[in-house]
Amino acid sequence: MADTMTGLKRTSYCGETTAAFTGKEVVVCGWVQKIRDKGMLVFIDLRDRTGIVQLAFDDQTPEELRQKAQTARAEFVLMAKGTVRPRESVNKDLKNGDVEVYVSDLRILSRAQTPPFEITETTNVKEDLRLKYRYLDLRRGEMQQSIMLRHRIVKAARDYYDRNGFLEIETPCLIKSTPEGARDYLVPSRVQPGKFFALPQSPQQYKQLLMLSGFDRYMQIARCFRDEDLRADRQPEFTQIDLEMSFVDEEDVMSVNEGFVKHVFREVLGKEVQTPFRRVNYQEAMSRYGSDKPDTRFGLELCDLTGLVKDTGFKVFRGAVDGGGSVRAINAKGAAGKLSRKEVDKLADFVKTYRAKGLAFTRLTPEGESSSYEKFLTPDEAKAIRERLGAETGDVLLIVADPKDQVVFDSLGALRVRLAKQLDLIPPGSFDFLWVTQFPLFEYDEEEGRYAAKHHPFTSPMLEDLDKMESDPANCRARAYDMVINGCEVGGGSIRITDPEVQERMFQALGFTPERARAQFGFLIDAFKYGAPPHGGMAYGLDRLVMLMLDRDSIRDVIAFPKVQNASELMTGCPDTVEDKSLQELSIRIALPEEE
Ligand code: AMO
Ligand code: AMP
Repeated sequence: MADTMTGLKRTSYCGETTAAFTGKEVVVCGWVQKIRDKGMLVFIDLRDRTGIVQLAFDDQTPEELRQKAQTARAEFVLMAKGTVRPRESVNKDLKNGDVEVYVSDLRILSRAQTPPFEITETTNVKEDLRLKYRYLDLRRGEMQQSIMLRHRIVKAARDYYDRNGFLEIETPCLIKSTPEGARDYLVPSRVQPGKFFALPQSPQQYKQLLMLSGFDRYMQIARCFRDEDLRADRQPEFTQIDLEMSFVDEEDVMSVNEGFVKHVFREVLGKEVQTPFRRVNYQEAMSRYGSDKPDTRFGLELCDLTGLVKDTGFKVFRGAVDGGGSVRAINAKGAAGKLSRKEVDKLADFVKTYRAKGLAFTRLTPEGESSSYEKFLTPDEAKAIRERLGAETGDVLLIVADPKDQVVFDSLGALRVRLAKQLDLIPPGSFDFLWVTQFPLFEYDEEEGRYAAKHHPFTSPMLEDLDKMESDPANCRARAYDMVINGCEVGGGSIRITDPEVQERMFQALGFTPERARAQFGFLIDAFKYGAPPHGGMAYGLDRLVMLMLDRDSIRDVIAFPKVQNASELMTGCPDTVEDKSLQELSIRIALPEEE
């Protein structure tokens, strides 16, 4: 049977039991990290969320106590009383590696089977196994750090917005569906058979209504649900730091939020962030970086060659120009040594995953030049391209041509980031903050054959573009902004439509009939008739912000219990089937597609 804690109370955490306690009696609790049994000398590393302390037993320790210590194994839960004393051999890796607890009372509170993987600071155990035993994975120092720093980031957010007059207000999780582009998670109603709630993709409509109610400044740490394809930076349920403000324009929202980023970086990382952040409008972001969330920690900017090759005889380039697209290039300066012919072929395969049909190149090595396309151009055209790109010996010129501009941007935008990593151009530990502004209001949905809202249908057009809503939707810009850190879209928001007439035009432009608009948004359309203050806001992806601040590769590493690629949770095994009785109560019958 396990021991009890009777008569003992913890007095200090393991990692906090430092030399300051020398000579004092302490009681520590935790898990066995490691045991070293040298017969008369026994050492146990005891671990809790603050770190590790060494427990010591020697030939002066009563035999029975020492023998008990010898039965301890990795991950046993212990409680130990003892005196803090200097250690004989100092462990420089621990902040308290110069002391140990010389134990006078030991309790084995719980025994442990051998865990499926060793609990170590960092690990290369496969993620599926870690997620199946997430409660063990979370014992690892690296994970404990993530979760504790996440707490501090959330606390810094609450403190900052509170100090700036924001009220935290909860909005419901069982709602009518929100149109934010992803699919909704639906929840069947038992009392109203055949009807469904949706889980919120964001609190968007409620927070706007709170502005209409006069709460003026709102914030919430809000759980959001989106049934979309998962990636390293996406989860089906994730958390936003969500906020909204009244009587503001873009500049007000941006400056309050620059203040937040400054605050949270200082509080949590001790880093000073320069404000205001740089602003890049969408057009410029695309043409210079091929992305609306550019990583600007390095150069490798895109260069437009379309004008230079518009009359060329080379079909690949000419076809792209004639088809209404473009020909653009990146000069990987001085990279010829690292980008062998074979490497360039790999890059060509890489851009093809972004729908590019090929990657034209010129390698200018000191030993000689080779090009996949110059032979198809006139000498003047080839020279003009080299000049435009500032080509010198040692450079590699990489070109994509496509009748669809977006394909050129997507492929070169991704190539840029890949090259920067491959060529080690990103200074480690650096942060780069950016606002991307003036997004297009609409995005053409090829599948549906109509325009969709790029952000959401409540985002205001730029005033100077109001008349383009109908006449030139593709070039109508929005009062929307994204915060981008190191090439990651950390947050986004907009100034909202408050004029009922503009809102109506927006629904029309999105292809809603007045009836459908009323059925879906009637409450909102009505609300705006009763006095709506100008307002706007934004939401941060908290998980992404934490991931970036802690320099982790995946948001799964900063979420205690994340889901995997197919949106299941490996530990509990959900989603799962439910009993027929539950389905009957909900008036639901399952009709699985027949197996082929
Ligand atoms: P948006 O849809 O841009 O805006 O979302 C805001 C931020 O949330 C993060 N995010 C995600 N994080 C993890 N997993 C996901 N599946 C996921 N989807 C989005 C991103 C993104 O920038 N209501 C508006 C905000 C507003 O207009 O105020 C909204 O939700 O970091
Ligand atoms: P080809 O005429 O198909 O042999 O192509 C000549 C060169 O142009 C090869 O290096 C191809 O990889 C490259 N290329 C083909 N299509 C494209 C494209 N859409 N954009 C850029 N380069 C391309």
